[in-house]
Amino acid sequence: MTAPDFPLRTAVLASGGGSNLQAIIDYLDGLGPARAAQVVLIASDRAESGALTKARAQHIEGAVIGAPADGAALVTLLESHRIGLVVLAGYLKFVPHEVTRRWAGRIINIHPSLLPKFGGAGMYGRRVHQAVIAAGETESGATVHHVNEEFDRGEIIARERVRVEQGDSPDSLAARVLAAEHTLYPRTVQELAVKLSNTSHSA
Ligand code: GRF
Repeated sequence: MTAPDFPLRTAVLASGGGSNLQAIIDYLDGLGPARAAQVVLIASDRAESGALTKARAQHIEGAVIGAPADGAALVTLLESHRIGLVVLAGYLKFVPHEVTRRWAGRIINIHPSLLPKFGGAGMYGRRVHQAVIAAGETESGATVHHVNEEFDRGEIIARERVRVEQGDSPDSLAARVLAAEHTLYPRTVQELAVKLSNTSHSA
């Protein structure tokens, strides 16, 4: 196997506003030459997503995923940009098996709860925080995990806890969790990219 690029060429897949995407770009930029990953592609299933606006503003290649269930097309898109790491950041579509198999160990997601609790199909956005509050939990948080063929079930890489405060609404809890995501996710991307680079160089 040829050695991967350093920094690792990274694609971010996002459906929404892309605040995690931005946090990752800013953190990696701040590391300068020590950054082990670089976002070279932003892909979204929604042409009007904030993530693609951010791509344009920062002169990063943006792509619309026209048929999210078409695994072969997504593999082709990622291959054509020589992507070594795939980061899902608020990507709401199921990632086809062709992609999770091809990038096994190199495709990660962040979920706004302490997995394995409050994950799985249909558990996204506000619904997660509503369920956490309804269950009377005293803590929640964010989880970064590998992506496999089941929603939110891949191996856990890192978690960050936040308190659920008395009187929290789903929105106030979501904001606290999102702030935690913005430090957890960039750091985890960097750490994984370092690990992947070291592994392939010593292989
Ligand atoms: C985050 O809460 C993340 O955990 C979830 O989707 C949300 C994305 O937010 N997977 P943003 O688009 O990064 O602002």
